[in-house]
Amino acid sequence: MKAMVLTSFGGPDSFARQDLPDPRPGPGQVRVAVHATSINPLDIQIRRGDYADQVALPAIIGHDVSGVIDEIGSGVTGFREGDEVYYTPRIFGGPGSYAEYHVADTDIVARKPANLTHSEAASVSLVGVTVWEALVQRARLQVTETVLIHGGAGGVGSIAVQVATAIGARVLATARGSDAARVARLGASEVIDFEREDYGEAVDRLTEGPGVDVVLDTLGRDTLSRSPRLLREDGRVVSLVDTATPQNLIDAWGRNATYHFVFSRQSAGKLDALTRLLERGLVVPQVGLELPLAEVAGAHARAEEGRVKGKIVLRVRS
Ligand SMILES: NC(=O)c1ccc[n+]([C@@H]2O[C@H](COP(=O)([O-])OP(=O)(O)OC[C@H]3O[C@@H](n4cnc5c(N)ncnc54)[C@H](OP(=O)(O)O)[C@@H]3O)[C@@H](O)[C@H]2O)c1
Repeated sequence: MKAMVLTSFGGPDSFARQDLPDPRPGPGQVRVAVHATSINPLDIQIRRGDYADQVALPAIIGHDVSGVIDEIGSGVTGFREGDEVYYTPRIFGGPGSYAEYHVADTDIVARKPANLTHSEAASVSLVGVTVWEALVQRARLQVTETVLIHGGAGGVGSIAVQVATAIGARVLATARGSDAARVARLGASEVIDFEREDYGEAVDRLTEGPGVDVVLDTLGRDTLSRSPRLLREDGRVVSLVDTATPQNLIDAWGRNATYHFVFSRQSAGKLDALTRLLERGLVVPQVGLELPLAEVAGAHARAEEGRVKGKIVLRVRS
């Protein structure tokens, strides 16, 4: 099979096109002919060498798959050859998706939403599972509640705004002013332009004091320590971004706050739940650009520039 292999840690041109043996599924596994994958910040962090102790080179990276099962391992009963599926390969648990084939354990593989193209499905698997775990399983966001979603225009944020809206919560989101209209169309009741207004003051203004029930932190930095002051009693903070600097969480006591730290765990069950929302049109994938897998260097460069609005999808088969 052809793969774009990460051969050294560094810039976007650290990938080389290689011909590798086709992988074969073991017991309880399926082999998937990959049709599309997409770019996540984790791909860029791995490429730069941020996780050099967890990723041995050369490596096939990539964290979204949408494709078609073309071989079944022994003992697999739930899938057949020809099934369309989508999933995130186990993070730091083997080869990723920048390749023509990927082999996966069936417990992380879900049926592709029938109404989505492979490109659309590949754009939502990692971010969708992350949002499901963050807002539904950890924060247990309720219809009566208000959530502050940071980075509402981003890969995670744009799905989080839609999932929170589908739950029926009131959604406040931070975003660049130029993205405000798009984030509002996704369902945010109010969009806070982070370039023009301090988000803490905006939350005070918009909630007239009481604050929000849940903060979804896609930023890191001082969001952990600032969030308690924005929370109502018993509020929750869900953090997706590791922060190496010590944080002062003293204000969390005053709110009886709960912190959740999420590193997305792959599971078919979370994807199946997301599929319900996707098939009902309550969550709509946000694809900004599609490129062939061979142009992965250009795709990484575009992702780092940050000007593409929506996910960057890599087409593996046309
Ligand atoms: N823990 C996990 O399991 C997990 C899973 C997925 C993602 N993540 C992490 O979550 C973070 C977000 O991921 P993503 O895929 O959503 O990235 P993304 O697509 O790059 O989105 C980030 C968004 O945040 C916006 N932004 C930048 N500065 C901001 C600020 N000060 N206030 C509000 N918004 C701001 C960006 O706007 P511009 O592009 O205009 O600058 C962009 O729209 C990354 O660090 C990623 O590694 C963690």
